[in-house]
Amino acid sequence: MSTYTAINLIARPAPGPIPANVFEVVKKDVPSVEDGQILVKQTHMSLDPAMIGWMNPDPESYIPPVALGDVMRSSGLGEVVESQNPGFAVGDRVMGMTGWSEYILSNGEGLRKVQPGLDAEMVLSVFALPGLTATQGLFGFGNPKPGETILISGAAGSVGSIVGQLAKAEGLDVIGVAGSDEKCKWLVNDLGFDGAINYKSDDIDAKIKELAPKGVDIYFENTGGPIQHHAIDNMNAHGRVVVCGMISDYAAETPSAGPNWIPIIKKRITIQGYAMPDHFPQLAELVGKLTPYVMQGKVKYRAHVLEGLESAIDGLNMLLTGGNNGKLIVKL
Ligand SMILES: NC(=O)c1ccc[n+]([C@@H]2O[C@H](COP(=O)([O-])OP(=O)(O)OC[C@H]3O[C@@H](n4cnc5c(N)ncnc54)[C@H](OP(=O)(O)O)[C@@H]3O)[C@@H](O)[C@H]2O)c1
Repeated sequence: MSTYTAINLIARPAPGPIPANVFEVVKKDVPSVEDGQILVKQTHMSLDPAMIGWMNPDPESYIPPVALGDVMRSSGLGEVVESQNPGFAVGDRVMGMTGWSEYILSNGEGLRKVQPGLDAEMVLSVFALPGLTATQGLFGFGNPKPGETILISGAAGSVGSIVGQLAKAEGLDVIGVAGSDEKCKWLVNDLGFDGAINYKSDDIDAKIKELAPKGVDIYFENTGGPIQHHAIDNMNAHGRVVVCGMISDYAAETPSAGPNWIPIIKKRITIQGYAMPDHFPQLAELVGKLTPYVMQGKVKYRAHVLEGLESAIDGLNMLLTGGNNGKLIVKL
């Protein structure tokens, strides 16, 4: 009987970088496929900041934590290699919550078929979580209007880069915040952002005032941290804050302090947090909204691809250090 590799979560990480010893690499026997089941060979796995939250035992989160001893949770894409399920044929490509595992035995529930011919990196970078999150956040909560100004933190990341391009296509002035000069140049020169701020080296407040002289109408929050206070300080009346992520706090010992609420009253600012599992029932609608922008060449992406299942262990930390240049993907 042949074997395959999977990676289990065996301990809860303390604040800070995620150590390799919270994971255990295991060998398993490739299972036999029974009636109604399929065997999927995973080819591409997505690494997402949310996974850092899923390792913590917070019972109040939007999704239960990964249980200790279970395969680490993740989404991914693979190919059906055996099928005893009439809904799937050998050779079909499918995506869903696959986990850190080379093979997945499934009854097909929760797996979506991937259109033949679509590049796997593009699927995970655009049509999976990043593009859907960007579409829901911007259009569902941002209420963007042509001529307005949007400020986006984590702008060179997989979600932020799509938010900015969709907003640009809608006629907004788009300012991105990112953690390196290279990322800032990519936003302006390749993606067409109107301006970019390096939060590690620029005076954030002065730069927002310079790049957004009319003030900020929408703040798309992916990171939290010091950027948030400057964003709120520079917002216009009736501005919207779309709270998508707070990565600067995910591995922090103490969460950063929130902004003063007085300007929120004075400027009548709306603040909306959201989590995509609530919106999965609207998946087809979101894909339908996003697709025309992609077809018109208005959404570019870059994938940062690591090789081999075990590269996920260190790879996860790249999301915390900004080491990823684009959507972080593990190719198996
Ligand atoms: N609400 C939802 O349903 C939902 C769904 C998907 C994603 N999200 C959230 O959206 C955010 C972006 O996710 P993504 O998949 O697009 O990840 P990503 O932006 O591709 O990667 C994470 C990036 O965050 C930045 N970062 C890390 N630590 C930071 C810090 N202390 N301060 C500022 N920036 C920091 C780094 O870029 P720099 O080099 O620029 O620092 C890093 O590359 C995350 O917070 C994630 O949790 C939410």
